[in-house]
Amino acid sequence: MQIDSMSTWQRTHSCGKLRASNHGEEVILMGWVNSRRDLGQLIFIDLRDREGITQIVFDPQADAESHAKAHILRNEWVLAVRGEVVNRLEGQENKQIPTGGIEVRALELKILNHTETPPFQVDGAVDGSETLRLKHRYLELRRPQMLATFKKRHRIAAFIREYLNRMGFLEVETPFLTKSTPEGARDYLVPSRVNRGCFYALPQSPQLFKQLLMVAGFERYYQIVRCFRDEDLRADRQPEFTQVDLEMSFATEETVMSVFEGLMIDLFQEVQGVEIPAPIGRMDYREAMETYGTDRPDLRFGMEIRDLTEHARKTDFRVFRDTAAGGGVIKAIRVPGGAAAFSRKNLDELGTLAVEWGAKGLAWAKITPDGWQSPLDKFLKSEEKGAINASMEAQPGDLILCVAHERSIVNEVLGRMRTHIARERNLIPSDRWSFLWVTRFPLFEFDEAEDRLAAVHHPFTSPLEEDVAVLETDPLAARARAYDLVLNGSEIGGGSVRIHRLDLQQQIFKLLGISPEQAQAKFGFLLEALRYGAPPHAGMAIGFDRLVALMTGAQSLREVIAFPKTTSASCLLTEAPSEVDPRQLSELGLALVAEEEADQ
Ligand code: AMO
Ligand code: AMP
Repeated sequence: MQIDSMSTWQRTHSCGKLRASNHGEEVILMGWVNSRRDLGQLIFIDLRDREGITQIVFDPQADAESHAKAHILRNEWVLAVRGEVVNRLEGQENKQIPTGGIEVRALELKILNHTETPPFQVDGAVDGSETLRLKHRYLELRRPQMLATFKKRHRIAAFIREYLNRMGFLEVETPFLTKSTPEGARDYLVPSRVNRGCFYALPQSPQLFKQLLMVAGFERYYQIVRCFRDEDLRADRQPEFTQVDLEMSFATEETVMSVFEGLMIDLFQEVQGVEIPAPIGRMDYREAMETYGTDRPDLRFGMEIRDLTEHARKTDFRVFRDTAAGGGVIKAIRVPGGAAAFSRKNLDELGTLAVEWGAKGLAWAKITPDGWQSPLDKFLKSEEKGAINASMEAQPGDLILCVAHERSIVNEVLGRMRTHIARERNLIPSDRWSFLWVTRFPLFEFDEAEDRLAAVHHPFTSPLEEDVAVLETDPLAARARAYDLVLNGSEIGGGSVRIHRLDLQQQIFKLLGISPEQAQAKFGFLLEALRYGAPPHAGMAIGFDRLVALMTGAQSLREVIAFPKTTSASCLLTEAPSEVDPRQLSELGLALVAEEEADQ
């Protein structure tokens, strides 16, 4: 089959550009065949490029040669068409597309390329398995919906850059071949050929480098930067992802939060057309955990968790009494209108879920005009039920779900139950944008597996000044000068005021069980830098892919990353990761061992 050369043809317009005002102009368009209708005498092609679709008409009266050639065209062939713009007759306009008022009458046709039959339809309904679509990602990316996502991603990145440039931030690139920074995940390692037996780590974030830039006196740094983390993947996690990373000198949490707050408000105004009321609300970590059972509460809906321990401890229900006596808590959520919506079977299913999540059971009560309908009804006196109703602000028709256990489990189970029910019952308004700062995280958590303290954020996070005193006596009570930005229940960013004093940094390493020798080996360069006039500094990073996913309504990060990885961290398109030539391994001084040996 013949393929024509573009020769000296120059595209004059995109396929989204032409309007009635172009009537009579001669144009050259180039693009892909989106669809064709062959009526014999007249052949219609919808020609598609990045900017849109234009209808081309092949009419033997206009040009017999191109009409003859047009019979063989198939979807996704690549064409160049020279033709004349004509207004469509009244009643024949296509109101669905911006170019629907015109069509281009072909005067000359060049077929620039053919295609094999694509493995799935490019235009129209999504067909083909996700595996097939990821394997041929370049075809999937041709879908107008996909293209729209990436145009928006570009606009968001461009807006952020302009905003930060205006605020005096310097964009600085930091190394990818570096030493590991602890952010809680495993590192991706890169063996060094020149330095046998030594490895670089791909950065989990540029954390230490941006702190060094503050020591260097750069004052305001940002970077839209790739980060690499070998962790268990989910819909909202990719092994390589992008951060909008930022650091500021002579700054407190207020300085950093106000930069991001301004950025988010302006970005949503400009790109999303949405007014975000200032200021963005704030919540202590503790309150978030107690009231929503999570450090990233979605405030688009209610059903807050309330504490019923004081009422429940006095009842005849043994589980409640024993739990309260043993130092546990009894807490509940109220599902408005839930009494009618949940059958016994539904409630049993919720109970099973609660147990899967760590509860021992899920007590429920349907509030009716005549009182409680509940397995616990017989154990509670009517004033006890009345007190619980009052605490829960329960109305007839509502459902109360209650868990008794130790505090952290109760919070987690009810927090998950709250979101589960809200999703199942469509209680989450999809047109609302709920930003929230969560602050004052604990500085440490106890790592049971390692039997030592671990940093909740990272080991460079400053404790609250008033909590420095408890570092030695009760480190788990120390709170961090850390803040997370939450959007619609998703953690889109986090940051902190850093430690800029050597003595405090050394003290924190010690509390984390990192010996001076280990600290020297891992972070010697940071400790060294802190000796040379490190200014107070603070910063933050936004998960850019997560932000874009929320702004485009994507269900998974895969939709907003051009060439994403699967949950098993592989790229179906390139088939990475893959085995390498034994010669490459020997050059690196590496040898593979069998899996059984490696596990020993
Ligand atoms: P943190 O580890 O909280 O902070 O990361 C910042 C934000 O990055 C996003 N994120 C991810 N997105 C996609 N896939 C992943 N695997 C993934 N992991 C994290 C989240 C998160 O809020 N250096 C610090 C920032 C600082 O303190 O300045 C850091 O990396 O949206
Ligand atoms: P039982 O007396 O074990 O049959 O439990 C009566 C009800 O209380 C059932 O609906 C259980 O799911 C619920 N239940 C049992 N243990 C707990 C608990 N720790 N917290 C909340 N509900 C519970």
